[in-house]
Amino acid sequence: MAILIIVDKEKAEAWAAQVKAIDASLDVRVWPKVGDPADIDFVLVWKYPSGELKKFPNLKCIASLGAGIDHILQDRNLPQGVPVTRVVEYSMPQSMSEYVTLAVLNYCRLFDTYLKDQEAAKWHEHTSLLARNTRVGIMGLGQLGGDAAVKLRMLGFPVSGWTRAPKQIKGITSYHGEDMLESFLSDLSILICLLPLTPATRNILNRDLFAKLPRGAYLINVARGDHLVEEDLLEALDSGQLSGACLDVFRTEPLPEDHPFWRHSKIIVTPHISSITFAEEVAPQFVENYRRLHAGQPLENTVNVKMGY
Ligand code: GLV
Repeated sequence: MAILIIVDKEKAEAWAAQVKAIDASLDVRVWPKVGDPADIDFVLVWKYPSGELKKFPNLKCIASLGAGIDHILQDRNLPQGVPVTRVVEYSMPQSMSEYVTLAVLNYCRLFDTYLKDQEAAKWHEHTSLLARNTRVGIMGLGQLGGDAAVKLRMLGFPVSGWTRAPKQIKGITSYHGEDMLESFLSDLSILICLLPLTPATRNILNRDLFAKLPRGAYLINVARGDHLVEEDLLEALDSGQLSGACLDVFRTEPLPEDHPFWRHSKIIVTPHISSITFAEEVAPQFVENYRRLHAGQPLENTVNVKMGY
């Protein structure tokens, strides 16, 4: 029985080395050098070629190398009934909260504007937003959204959260479901999307939603590119309904060189780096699940494939 790793070529060997460093006796293979497909009972994947997994008749666990599993669920030939797991670890919420805090503080203190002024040797004071007057709304209060909500609250921002099902976090004003979406959006200065990508959340950041935000709000999308209707964002920025957007995720990644987002003066682009997975921190979770699989014990960090997270 063997573990197969299917990730970017540059990263695959590093992941294999981390897994082997924990247990050198494991048979770890790096795609496309699969060997006998019948040997593979556990795969570690990140954005693998669709249809690939159905080649392994003895597959017992599909482990996502990230927090999201949408890249797995979009595989039309996904082997049915095989448990899917995701990564849950300390550095992901930590790095995500650092990123969204940086973006929120930037919109309050206009660091990107001062950098542009510096290029022009321009000494000019812009009006800052006070944290206590800047309500931040977070869509999705899971592991990542919940951590960011608490940290932003500690910095003095009023924080609202919107979730599918009711969820309470101390100090956070909570809204849930379709019916409460409008009230949630109505008093936000900054909206952060940290939702899982599911059929219900795809394209949720669209013209109708932007129209429900106060004029001049900012958007931070750190979830998935498919949450955002790109033309609607450009329209909202051009009309002034939104003042700016900070985007880490895109429908097509890498973002094509000729994409209008790259050169838009109101858009900040980063290359899907908001939450960082460190192989040395995460590899023990996979090895533990592999051990559990062979010991007949329940797997950890499984996701509900029907719900999509
Ligand atoms: C990154 O986007 C992840 O899902 O871990």
